[in-house]
Amino acid sequence: MAIAMAGKWQAGNLPPELTSLVGRRAELDVVRTAVRHSRLVTLTGIGGVGKSRVALRAAAELRSEFGGGAWLVGLSALNDGGLVPHAIAGALRLADQTARPMTEVLAEHLSGRELLIVLDSCEHLAGPAARSSPRCSPPYRGCACSPPAAARSKWRARRWS
Ligand SMILES: Nc1ncnc2c1ncn2[C@@H]1O[C@H](COP(=O)(O)OP(=O)(O)OP(=O)(O)O)[C@@H](O)[C@H]1O
Ligand SMILES: [Mg+2]
Repeated sequence: MAIAMAGKWQAGNLPPELTSLVGRRAELDVVRTAVRHSRLVTLTGIGGVGKSRVALRAAAELRSEFGGGAWLVGLSALNDGGLVPHAIAGALRLADQTARPMTEVLAEHLSGRELLIVLDSCEHLAGPAARSSPRCSPPYRGCACSPPAAARSKWRARRWS
């Protein structure tokens, strides 16, 4: 078999919240609703405004609605956009022994599964991150976090169908 899960299957890798989340109920409602209705939701806002916190809390609250779990893919340290699919596969703990393109491996793994994936800090990889998403669909849903190129509003969620 080409794909094997390394270790025991776990429905997600969301980190525990180490501090209490203050407020943001309205934003969480918006994000949850947006994720339920769209395959890709982008959170934008100035640095430090709380995009990652809101995305991770929303993902935790939605986790039970996704049979394949909720997963965090941190992209801040990644410089090569071509490696976005590998970063996603790594977070999902996918091991592939073949020379196939990783997007193909991901698509095969995700086929028939419903996952919620948070692509955190993807502003410098927006193109590759977006291109990876539809190829991994339809069961994949995503929530991406990035500061806007020019910050006009403090916080914003955008749905992409
Ligand atoms: N509503 C909140 N309640 C408590 N702490 C918060 C809240 N929002 C943000 N924080 C804290 O503020 C800090 C910055 O939040 P976060 O990392 O989510 O911001 P960000 O918008 O994702 O920043 P960046 O653009 O740098 O990725 C973190 O330590 C986070 O835990
Ligand atoms: Mg962040």
